[in-house]
Amino acid sequence: MTKQIQIAIDGPAAAGKSTIAKKTAELLGYTYVDTGAMYRAITYKAIQLNINLQDGEKLTNLLEQTTIELKPSATGQLVYLDGVEVTEQIRSTQVTSSVSEVAAHANLRTEMVKRQIEMGKDGSIVMDGRDIGTHVLINAELKIFMSASVEERANRRLLDNQQRGIKTSLETLIEEISLRDKMDSEREASPLIQAEDAIFIDTTSLTIEEVSEKIMQLAKERIA
Ligand code: DC
Repeated sequence: MTKQIQIAIDGPAAAGKSTIAKKTAELLGYTYVDTGAMYRAITYKAIQLNINLQDGEKLTNLLEQTTIELKPSATGQLVYLDGVEVTEQIRSTQVTSSVSEVAAHANLRTEMVKRQIEMGKDGSIVMDGRDIGTHVLINAELKIFMSASVEERANRRLLDNQQRGIKTSLETLIEEISLRDKMDSEREASPLIQAEDAIFIDTTSLTIEEVSEKIMQLAKERIA
C-alpha cells in the first residue's frame, strides 16, 4: 500500500502557498486545507457582528459556536461559514486588513489548531498556513517553508486582484504585505517561523511549475 503522508506548507502572505498546495494536493489525490481561509472566515463573521477584534475572549467564544467547512469543487475550494458559502466575501480588502489582528489571539488559535489537527489526522493531506509545521502537523513527513521578496509577492497579488476585478496599486500592496508580515511574525502566539525540519524554498525567481516540480519530487521521496 502507498504511504499516505502529511505535507505542511508555511510562509508569509502571498508567497504562492495556496496555488502550490492546491496543485500538489491535486497531483497526489490528497485533500487540500487552506487554514488562512479559516482565520478569514471567523474574521468576516466578527466584522458582520460588529465584534471588537481586540477582544480575544469574545472572538474565541464566537469561534466555538461557529462551523467552518472547506469543500473541494471544480472551481477550487469553497468556504462555508455556518452552512453559508462565503468563498469570495472572505477575500475582501476589509477582511484581509483585519485578519492578522484576529489571528493573533492565543485562545482562538488553540481552537483553530485543534480543528486543523483533526482534519489532518488521517494523512493524505496538504495544509498551508503560518504555523502548520510548528503547531498543527508537527510530525508531517514533508514540511516546506516558502517565501519570496516583498516586491515579487506584491506583484503576484496585484495580478491576482486584477483577475478578480479588485483595484489596488503596487505601492499599497507592498505596504499591506509588509505590515501583515510584521504582525504575523511578531505576534506572541505561534508567530510565523520556519520549523527546524522544514525545507526552505525561495520562489522569487521560480515559476509555479518549477516550485511544484520541486515539491512533488520531495513528496515522492517521502512516499516511496
Ligand atoms: O494565507 P492567508 O493570507 O489567507 O492568511 C490570512 C491570515 O491568517 C494571515 O494574515 C495570518 C493568518 N494565519 C495564521 O495566523 N495561521 C495560519 N495557519 C493561517 C493563516
